[in-house]
Amino acid sequence: MGLTTTHTQANSYRNMKGKFPIEKFRQTQTPFYYYDSGLLRQTLRTINEEAGRHEGFCVHYAIKANANPKVLNIICQAGLGADCVSGGEIMASINAGFPASKIVYAGVGKSDWEINLGLDHDIFSFNVESVPELEVINELAMAKGKVARVAFRINPNVGAHTHANITTGLAENKFGIAMRDMESIIDQASALSNVKFVGLHFHIGSQILDMGDFKALCNRINDLQDQLERHHIKVENINVGGGLGIDYQHPNRVPIPDFKAYFDTYARFLKLRPGQTLHFELGRAVVAQCGSLITKTLYVKEGACKKFAIVDAGMTDLIRPALYNAYHKIENLSSEEPLETYDVVGPICESSDVFAKSIDLNQCHRGDLIALRSAGAYGEIMASCYNCRQLPKGYITEDFR
Ligand code: LLP
Repeated sequence: MGLTTTHTQANSYRNMKGKFPIEKFRQTQTPFYYYDSGLLRQTLRTINEEAGRHEGFCVHYAIKANANPKVLNIICQAGLGADCVSGGEIMASINAGFPASKIVYAGVGKSDWEINLGLDHDIFSFNVESVPELEVINELAMAKGKVARVAFRINPNVGAHTHANITTGLAENKFGIAMRDMESIIDQASALSNVKFVGLHFHIGSQILDMGDFKALCNRINDLQDQLERHHIKVENINVGGGLGIDYQHPNRVPIPDFKAYFDTYARFLKLRPGQTLHFELGRAVVAQCGSLITKTLYVKEGACKKFAIVDAGMTDLIRPALYNAYHKIENLSSEEPLETYDVVGPICESSDVFAKSIDLNQCHRGDLIALRSAGAYGEIMASCYNCRQLPKGYITEDFR
């Protein structure tokens, strides 16, 4: 790695920081993602416990949040289903061992090969987002002599108190079928021989911490279900998507999101019909807190009016701060020296390649290991090779034993 440090590296762990195998980190090429598999397993146990208290609750993991094979393997072993948005994700879930009977497949633009892949594996359901898509699924299923199970993704026009770029359930968003078209698409499906209508699908957005938003979705679904019941239309399952947020400010204090409040909200406000199952597609809440992007300080530069800590990870490794102005807690794992104020920036040729501005870190030196916390979701999976950079590797706790 060629970097030397000029100060003591004695302190490997302090209570205020995350628990990391620092010695192993020092021998590993940076930047890389590190996943605390113990925390991931504990999170999954909590999910199973809290969802398990309610009859008919089935949890799927939204593969888009993180498809690292080692992470997928742990999630699959915990018994969750998979929520996919592409053929590549269907393959990733099948390879990780998720049973096809627990795979749901959503997305506004499904290609023919992707639909065929879902049909070949007999996935649990296609979450259909338009009439033309329904017709294509019917045609492709007919060619294979199969009947595809379809759920309709309804745009509930429910807002969520989150970042505008990750709100999906408003009428202006591209996702889903308008509520007023719900009955007509169900009618159209019943006239087609190779699709079977099995459920309704919703998703209002991501990083939602206000349970009132999920309650609003429940109320909307209750109205829609009443409407369908009046027309004697039977719905086997309801899928409410994902969206539960995490505490980016306090990854050490709140490592596991409040799954109890989340599942209890649905149990309390959603009126499930007898025999109906309720499906969830959680991504961020499952994997965000167990992951950190580990990077090394290359240089500390004194600017005209501020200090820059220039690290070897950039927006190519973690794009969330540049794309959404997202906050990730940053810790200097190698120093306990007094705090100093830095802009933490990467090496990419873009002014937006900034992880944080004016934050306090224990005094930084060349070679210090820096952790960008809560990066397990939408981190590694959104990495790119811009500037001909290598993709960051991902390790789990067991890799460092
Ligand atoms: N289901 C559907 C239909 C979705 O569109 C999403 C996320 C999920 C489930 C999972 O949502 P979660 O439980 O993770 O909130 N890249 C952005 C987040 C984009 C979310 C897209 N859809 C970020 O880094 O914040």
